[in-house]
Formats: sequence, structure tokens, C-alpha cells
Amino acid sequence: MNPTQSPRTQSADLERLAAAFDSREFATTLVSGQGRVPRLTVASRLSRTSEDVCVEGGWFWYSHAERIAPVTDLQETAAKIADLLRSSLPPTRMPQLLPAGTSAAVPNIARMYSYWTGGKDHLQADRHAASALARDFPEIAAIAAANRQFVTRAVTHAASQGISQFIDIGTGLPTWPAVHQTAREHAPHAKTVYLDNDSVVLAHARALYAAPGVMVGHGDLRHPNDIVTGTDLRTCIDFTQPACLILAAVLHFLRPVEADHAVRVLAGALAPGSYLVVSAGTSTGTDPVLLDRLRAVYVRATPISARTQAEIDAWFIGFLPVRPGLVDVRDWRPGRLRPGPARAPTRARFLAGVGIKVHPVP
Ligand SMILES: C[S@@+](CC[C@H](N)C(=O)[O-])C[C@H]1O[C@@H](n2cnc3c(N)ncnc32)[C@H](O)[C@@H]1O
Repeated sequence: MNPTQSPRTQSADLERLAAAFDSREFATTLVSGQGRVPRLTVASRLSRTSEDVCVEGGWFWYSHAERIAPVTDLQETAAKIADLLRSSLPPTRMPQLLPAGTSAAVPNIARMYSYWTGGKDHLQADRHAASALARDFPEIAAIAAANRQFVTRAVTHAASQGISQFIDIGTGLPTWPAVHQTAREHAPHAKTVYLDNDSVVLAHARALYAAPGVMVGHGDLRHPNDIVTGTDLRTCIDFTQPACLILAAVLHFLRPVEADHAVRVLAGALAPGSYLVVSAGTSTGTDPVLLDRLRAVYVRATPISARTQAEIDAWFIGFLPVRPGLVDVRDWRPGRLRPGPARAPTRARFLAGVGIKVHPVP
């Protein structure tokens, strides 16, 4: 048994735990000093519930006096607290919403992503696959959350530069803040079109994103010409004016030739001055074992194509890179989220970049 630690050491341990939550969809508050026993409050942004964590004898503890994990195991501690907060979310109506012919036993892209980012819209098969992957590759949940934060920062940037039309394809299950909410903080009359090829995503998005200037529709990136000529997009977006096209965490679910074609067609339809926002997993620097695991999990749902960094960079041909260019998803203008110098090495690389479409050479 470790001797009782000083309040200062306890605070330091809790600060390290708070840093482990930095990249997840939770808010943390450390209360310490003035003779108080240091405690960390971890709050879920989705359910408005929170959990207090203390540290004693080399262990993190829940407020109901149950040990969580040794202070050396931040990932295990963070995962257990996240699970506890998730369990307080209301049960999902997902099984009733599944379209005929869809099996609840097949792990689903959008629902696993919901699990990793702290959402409630997942089924047992999704939770099972997502938690098994996160156990072996804890960085994956952190990357999913970091990707969501990148989308928010990129939309904030585009909207603050005067863009007021947003096209988000492969939008995923509803999350907070959604693209249209972020956009409207800077461009109050911004219009947003959300497209996805998953009917459950569309059912949820239609219910939760209903608002003036917001359109939710079916769009499959494997058929980009149908998207750009479709009335869903054309009725909402004026293609003679700049827009922001968001292809976040979706292009790696297409075969390489399909992804390249989708980017070419969709980016080609944008007016000069438009923004292209892309994030994707890459084979450059990613452990091939993780890629094999992902392929096995999604075998009945989708291909997994991890492209090289150079191939992802090529999607931005015709676009001027917005600084800092194509970088690790956590490094795209992290602001106050900037990770400390001792960031743990990761076996999974996920790239993100933003570009501005240049005028074609006459
Ligand atoms: C990991 S989620 C990403 C959600 C969101 N873009 C984000 O970055 O937070 C991927 C989404 O892409 C969708 N998707 C997968 N393949 C697609 C395709 N061919 N066309 C349109 N959407 C697709 C999935 O249904 C899922 O909702």
C-alpha cells in the first residue's frame, strides 16, 4: 500500500488524468488548495452528468469509494469514467430505427464513432467492437474525439473568414456542437447541408438538426456526380459563391479510386475561394496491425483504405493550404488544446487539413 500522498502530489496526478480527458468529449474541473482534498470533476457534455474522482494510496477512486485504477494507468481510468458517464445516458431508440434488412449484429461506422466520442447512439455489437479496439489501441478514441474538435475548429475558421455555406458529407450521428451551430456563431445566416449514406444517421440528423437553413439528405460519396447534380444540394447551396466542403473521417471508407474521384468531382464543383476540410486515417506511420483490425471489424460494412500522406495531400491540388497545412489531427490550430511536449507515441496517425480553392489559371 502506498503511503498517503501530499495534496500537491494528488493534484498533480489528477492534472495528468485531466490531460487524458483533454482529447475526449468531456469537460474537467480540478478543485484543490485551501485545505481541501483535491478532486477532479469529469462532466459529460451529452448527458449533463458528472463524476468526481479523488486519488489516494496510488489509486484513483470514484466518489462512491470504489477504486478505479492505479494512478499510473490514466487510459484505463479515463475509459472507466467515460463508461460510467455513458451509462447515465438515456437508452437509445436505435434498434427500432434500424431499416429492414440491417443487422444489429454488424458493427456500424457511425455508431462506433458515437461510442468513441462519448455519444449514446450505439448497439451492443458496436460497443463490443469499439471497446475491444480501444483496449488494444487506446489512441483510437482520443483520435475520434480530436477529429470532432478539428471539424469544429475548421468550421470556425471558415465561418470567421466569411464563408456562410457548409456542405458536410459523411456527417455521422448528431453531435454537439454540430457544424451548423458552430457556423452560426460566426455567420448567423449560414446554411448547412448534411449528407450521409446511412439511413439511421439521416433519421437522427433530421430529427435533431431541424432548423431553418439546415438540410439533411441522402448522399453517397461513391456517386459524387449524383450529389453535385442533386436537388438536395442545389436548392440550398449557391455554387457560384464560395462554400466550405467538409469530408471528415469518411474518405478512408471508400476504395482509393472512389475517394480520389469523389474529391475531384466535389471540389471541382466549388467556386473559387471555397474551403475544403479533410481528415482521414493514413497508412503513413500507422501500425499495420491496427489497419488489419479495422478491416476485420468492418468487413461486412465497408472497405478501409488507409492512404499515404502524399496521397491525402494530393486531394488538395488546386487549393492553397491554410496554415499549418496537412498535419496530425491534433496539431491543426490546437489553440488552448495544444498537447504538452510529452505526448504519448501513437500507433495510429490521422491527418487533417484545410485548403482554399484558388482561381483557375485563365
Ligand atoms: C466516422 S463518421 C464521421 C462523422 C463526421 N464527419 C466527423 O468527422 O465527426 C463517418 C460517417 O461517414 C458515413 N459514410 C461512410 N461511407 C459513406 C459514403 N460512401 N457516403 C456518404 N457517407 C458515408 C458513415 O455513415 C458515417 O456517418
